[in-house]
Amino acid sequence: MLNDALHIDGLAFPNRVVLQPMEGCDCRGDGAPSALTREKYLRAARSGAGTIWFEAAAVCPEGRTNGRQMMLTPANLDEFKALVRDVRETAMREAGVDPVLILQLTHSGRQSIVPMIAYRNRVYEAARPCTDANIVSDEYLDRLPEKYAATAALAAEAGFDGVDIKSCHGYLLQELLSAFERPGKYGGTFENRIRSYIDCVKAVRPAVPRSMLTARLSVADMVPYPWGFGTDASGGIDFTEPDLLIAALASEGVRILNVTLGNPYYNPHVNRPFRKGAYTPPETPETGLTRFETVEKHIKSRFSGLTVVGSGLSFFRDKMFARAEQLLTEGACDLAGFGRMWLAYPEFYRDWRAGRLDPKKCCLTCSRCTELMRGGRPSGCAIFNEYYRESYREMKT
Ligand SMILES: Cc1cc2nc3c(=O)[nH]c(=O)nc-3n(C[C@H](O)[C@H](O)[C@H](O)COP(=O)(O)O)c2cc1C
Repeated sequence: MLNDALHIDGLAFPNRVVLQPMEGCDCRGDGAPSALTREKYLRAARSGAGTIWFEAAAVCPEGRTNGRQMMLTPANLDEFKALVRDVRETAMREAGVDPVLILQLTHSGRQSIVPMIAYRNRVYEAARPCTDANIVSDEYLDRLPEKYAATAALAAEAGFDGVDIKSCHGYLLQELLSAFERPGKYGGTFENRIRSYIDCVKAVRPAVPRSMLTARLSVADMVPYPWGFGTDASGGIDFTEPDLLIAALASEGVRILNVTLGNPYYNPHVNRPFRKGAYTPPETPETGLTRFETVEKHIKSRFSGLTVVGSGLSFFRDKMFARAEQLLTEGACDLAGFGRMWLAYPEFYRDWRAGRLDPKKCCLTCSRCTELMRGGRPSGCAIFNEYYRESYREMKT
């Protein structure tokens, strides 16, 4: 199953393995890939994965989380073209696959260098204080779709097969979904709260008519109403609005939904169940993993025409492919996404296909990749990759 090809609108996915977007915080000041970024994606190319979902790339400078976040602009387009070309050549030469390449587009919103928030959210502001001055204006949001469309057009020119209009993990387009208390046309009613997201999708579609349109969506923030999306006041998932939103995305041409959950700045255990982290989560990892499965099955049962990418598989370590096969067979998802695993063990899929998966190389879900990122350093596997291991050691001394 995992090795089976999939065809969507004429685009061939050589197998069902997706390397999930993993922000490296390692680009140059102008947003172009650095040597470190290139190395990371060439490792990804050698994995044999059918899809490489490139990390969050900001659609404008003020929407970057840090000065090293990826950003595709007319000035650095040629460097992205070279990266895309080299990734394809490497994948063909060394793994025998022609991978689907998707670029994730984002505006970091509350996590931008200067926070740009949808509304005052007291849950999130406990961690990062803001004032009313940080609230983005309606006029700013009116101009957002053209920024997404312009970056999407550049992505197509760079050679990406598709773009992801990301609305997850608390970034701007996600936070707007829970702007219950925002006045005006981007807050309050459901139609108003999804307006900015849908307008961005609507603007991107004609800008890249031949590209695959995808969305990475936090189906539920798991932050109780009224401070999160898709979540009731007791903290459980309420599918009413996510279902309506997914239907709207599908009717605007989104063909692939990459399912995620939670907000890593508030409840990281939801998005990436871990064995070791900065705190003890209020639930077992198994509870979180079952939640992913439940949500994916729910979406597949309602939206049969949508291709679903499953998330949160790295926790299963050397059992990850058995779990992925189970989810694919049971119809929870069509593509299986692996995040932390490919940072730890980039050749994991090739090794598994060749019958030589090494359990000792599998991701430990120790959270050090996140610690590096939060520590203002390029992010990578601080256990198995020497460069990041050294960086982690330096950070701790
Ligand atoms: C260091 C790090 C960077 C990440 N960057 C992104 C990103 O750029 N975009 C995104 O949608 N998710 C991002 N994620 C979330 C992952 O894509 C993935 O959903 C998460 O790690 C759970 O999958 P896993 O269990 O296979 O690791 C990141 C996670 C980590 C740990």
